[in-house]
Amino acid sequence: MKIIEAEHYQDMSEKAARFIIEKVNGLSAPVLGLATGGTPLGTYKCLREDHLSHKTAYQHVYTVNLDEYVGLAPYDENSYTFYMKKHLFHHIGIPSSHTYLPNGMAADLTAECERYEALIERLGGVDLQLLGLGLNGHIGFNEPGTPFSSKTHVVELTESTRKANARYFDSLSSVPTKAVTMGISTIMKSKQILLLVSGANKAGILARLLSEEPHEGTPASVLNMHENVVIIADRDALSAVKERSMIF
Ligand code: GLP
Repeated sequence: MKIIEAEHYQDMSEKAARFIIEKVNGLSAPVLGLATGGTPLGTYKCLREDHLSHKTAYQHVYTVNLDEYVGLAPYDENSYTFYMKKHLFHHIGIPSSHTYLPNGMAADLTAECERYEALIERLGGVDLQLLGLGLNGHIGFNEPGTPFSSKTHVVELTESTRKANARYFDSLSSVPTKAVTMGISTIMKSKQILLLVSGANKAGILARLLSEEPHEGTPASVLNMHENVVIIADRDALSAVKERSMIF
């Protein structure tokens, strides 16, 4: 695990974007695993700006997103499909046929989970998986207690995750109660993982995941078992980490 300290959110975003651009330029058909939430917004902005100024091409890139709410249509402003189009896909010239998210409107969600898992395999697996970190240690929508062996599945969102995400909705009651998410084993199959963490409110959970043995109570602690993880975190997020020798 490599931990890179960024000065602040903007610096974290620029470093993360550079990391992603290297993959995009370095592989003939890269598969990027993408995340939503507040954390990667700055990274996506840097990718948009880079595409404008340096013409980085995305015609050869494929993307699979971590998760999607159940019951939100793709045109719903709160769906992750809408988020990805708005913040990234519409601006970088990636063919829409190369961008995949779980379908939260599928009539048969179990079949949808199997389809998504098979799709990732058909693409040859994820080369670089971008992750944010939930306040309770969730990755994707894998809440505490999710088995490390889990594949893409339907999850019942916890009250704390629904409250944390309510800022994007009109009210807490309009936040969906379920989502489809890549499972922990799906995420762990990625060849490389890039975890982004920003802000003092994430300092406690980041310090925990770095100091704990992997256990299912803190989903992100599983990353300690992956052999190719890079964490880019800003100074505030790293403020509670005692073992400084591991930080670059
Ligand atoms: C959400 C998403 C996660 C995200 C996390 C943190 O629930 N499903 O993929 O990483 O919460 O969100 P934020 O970056 O807004 O703190």
